[in-house]
Amino acid sequence: MSHAAPSNASNTAAISLATLPPHSTAEIAALADRYLTPNYRNVAPVFVRGEGPYNISLEQERYLDFSAGVAVNALGHNHPDLVAALRDQAALLIHQSNYWHNAHAAPLAEALCLQFSRATNGLQARCYFCNSGAEGTEAAVKLARRYHSRIRGQERPGIITFEGSFHGRTFAAMTATAQPKYQDGFAPLLPGFAYAKFGDLASVQALLDDPVFGPTVGAVAVEIVQGEGGVRLAPPGFFQQLRALCDDRGLLLMLDEVQTGLGRTGSFFAFEQEGIVPDVLWLAKALGGGVPVGAVLAREEVAQALQPGTHASTFGANALVTAVGRVILQVFERDGLVAHSAQMGAYLLAELKKAFAGRPYVTDIRGRGLMCGVEITSDPKPVVDAARRRHLLLSVAGTRVLRLTPPLIVDRAHCDEAVAALLAAADEVLG
Ligand SMILES: Cc1ncc(COP(=O)(O)O)c(C=O)c1O
Repeated sequence: MSHAAPSNASNTAAISLATLPPHSTAEIAALADRYLTPNYRNVAPVFVRGEGPYNISLEQERYLDFSAGVAVNALGHNHPDLVAALRDQAALLIHQSNYWHNAHAAPLAEALCLQFSRATNGLQARCYFCNSGAEGTEAAVKLARRYHSRIRGQERPGIITFEGSFHGRTFAAMTATAQPKYQDGFAPLLPGFAYAKFGDLASVQALLDDPVFGPTVGAVAVEIVQGEGGVRLAPPGFFQQLRALCDDRGLLLMLDEVQTGLGRTGSFFAFEQEGIVPDVLWLAKALGGGVPVGAVLAREEVAQALQPGTHASTFGANALVTAVGRVILQVFERDGLVAHSAQMGAYLLAELKKAFAGRPYVTDIRGRGLMCGVEITSDPKPVVDAARRRHLLLSVAGTRVLRLTPPLIVDRAHCDEAVAALLAAADEVLG
């Protein structure tokens, strides 16, 4: 029997990206208006290429990308090692079901679990792979409920999350996301969630002391820095107190590190700077550098809740994305990107503070690592638009915050360029 791939018959032409019909920016915009659901407010330009921290439009104009696909493109765009990994793995094997092993999922799980172990003084963990941040949240919610139900032998489905949080758009994730604007029109939400005030331990205690809800609570889920909520930091000591409270009440402490993880805040995991150890955490965004992959890490005892048949994802852990994840982690290691993020983050924050000093429209400038926010007195969208006209890309967080989450590979010159463009844009709109 021949194993040769079917060759193109002489009358069939090869199909490639080059043979697809090209479109102008105006045509793409018109197609998007007509055919995409209107949930995204896409705007020009059309990006066709990337080069490190720059994006290049169809018109061949360069934009400095200080959004990085909202904290996804940690290695910037078209990183040679990432491109090579994708090419090499695509040519070998893209996908096969989780019925079988592939060459990369288990080694990537090992690499992530070793990071967890390093960051927690030796705790053992296991890893479940999914495809996105929201799916990480879903898996964590299922894990928490199943852990209490089947390992601890007690139904404790209640989960506490925090006002201003963001955990994704699927049902459990949207319910966990304690911001009414994301839930509007989607009732009924998933039962069993209640919201505390971020950084306010007493508000967590109050929920736990509620005679009806309190005894049902099995987990607390929280971001170390609220990203979408506005680059919000909790007061010093909050997470340690929260950890102690969780220990006291037998609750799982679950950290959504989808945005903060993988060096974004200047440590591999953001929790490392808080002196705490989580029971569960989940990652996505930077883990694939742009290919969709997420990972949930859980302490050994907790991870045992996901026995065969309890949870799955068709695409989760496929060979392509996990190969990419392995290469990304090695690039992080080789290039010292976590330390670089801490250094560049400190530089960027200092430069932002210097540049915006005395601007009456700025109410706060804050951040951790390369996750920075400039809080202003009005809607940030016009400033983001003005920055884009000056060829700087950034995003909005919360209702008042200009968010900068550049690739972790940026240098001082990139930071200087971004700060100058942002200051000019903000002065133009608000000055
Ligand atoms: C902390 C956090 N959790 C979850 C998500 C959802 O991730 P995804 O959009 O990949 O589902 C995000 C996305 O911004 C996030 O910042």
